[in-house]
Amino acid sequence: MLREAWENEWLRLRDTAAQEVERVPTPDELESLRVALLGRGGRLTLLLKSLKDLSLEDRRAFGPAANGLKESLERAVGARQASFAARRLEGELAGTRVDLTLPGDAPGRGSLHPLTLVCSEIAGILSGLGFTWAEGPHVETERNNFESLNFPADHPAKDMHDTFYLRTSGLPLLLRTHTSPVQVRALEAARPPAPLRIMAPGRVFRHENADASHSSVFHQIEGLCVDKGVSFADLKSTLRLFLEGLFGPGTRLRLRPSFFPFTEPSAQVDVSCILCSGQGRLPAASGGGTSSPDGSVGCAVCKKLGWLEILGAGMVHPNVLRAAGYDPEVWSGYAWGLGVERIAMLKYRISDIRLFYQNDLRFLEQFK
Ligand code: FA5
Repeated sequence: MLREAWENEWLRLRDTAAQEVERVPTPDELESLRVALLGRGGRLTLLLKSLKDLSLEDRRAFGPAANGLKESLERAVGARQASFAARRLEGELAGTRVDLTLPGDAPGRGSLHPLTLVCSEIAGILSGLGFTWAEGPHVETERNNFESLNFPADHPAKDMHDTFYLRTSGLPLLLRTHTSPVQVRALEAARPPAPLRIMAPGRVFRHENADASHSSVFHQIEGLCVDKGVSFADLKSTLRLFLEGLFGPGTRLRLRPSFFPFTEPSAQVDVSCILCSGQGRLPAASGGGTSSPDGSVGCAVCKKLGWLEILGAGMVHPNVLRAAGYDPEVWSGYAWGLGVERIAMLKYRISDIRLFYQNDLRFLEQFK
């Protein structure tokens, strides 16, 4: 290429290209301009290629400036591309404006399950009476669940039809049928024998036909106190304080003789009905009972009895103490076991135990 022609093209590009890039009105036109100047067949690209046709002296004179122009044009094109992109984004945001001052969607607030609420309330009262929290596993040995608790070998509770046994090649294992094996664990853990005062809440399992008041999986809370000189009077006064705390002052207790292999003597403990205060009857206007033919209204909660069966209790059997290494001539104690679901049903007037396990939010949200 002739020097003169080269220099003319160089001057034109140097004087106009940068302004063209600055003025181009649209991103598409900017791209066309970029290709026309800097693309493979672009004017500046061709000019740089033809440098080789000039004399060495001219190459030295023009080369660096021409390369400098290429770099500055590339930068200018990049800057315009960025400014077009920023403008496009601004437009998009303007179309979908976000108002950060609008109130958000609050995430749904969970709440404690009614059984958890009752367990915590009971644990709170018992810890005030000096009982500490103890736990045992759901999978228990037959020994802890039955034998150490003085169950005779042919007791019906040990039957396959009542207890969920696990297929094992070693020790006979089962899903515990009550929280009483925690008594065995706590007594055996105390070496040498020492005073004990524990509460043991937890899940238990029995083969049951489910109905409004029976479930195969339910919860119990065990209480156990062992010391020197513990008497039945201690059991009664502790239960009175505990049940008054749970059902309110003025709650009365009734102990009826009963039987458990691991306590002697044993009792079923009733409390005066929380709805009719032990009267068995309610004023007609209260709406809490069922009408009878003579017009009186019997209490529906206690079925007119005035009493509600709440828990099983008794003095720890000497055989249980002995099996755990406590000398029954020195040590004595009391224990009880209550059903958490039954207490929750009474407190919250729930008519069907199955409601606890169905995960129906309409039910659960009432306990917020
Ligand atoms: C026992 O389980 C004894 N271990 C309690 C005990 C402990 C007595 C310490 C003496 C000393 P029982 O089988 O009665 O006892 O059950 C205790 C409570 O569990 C019952 O009063 C009842 O409230 C609850 N319960 C029993 N079976 C079910 C069931 N299928 N569904 C829901 N609750 C139940």
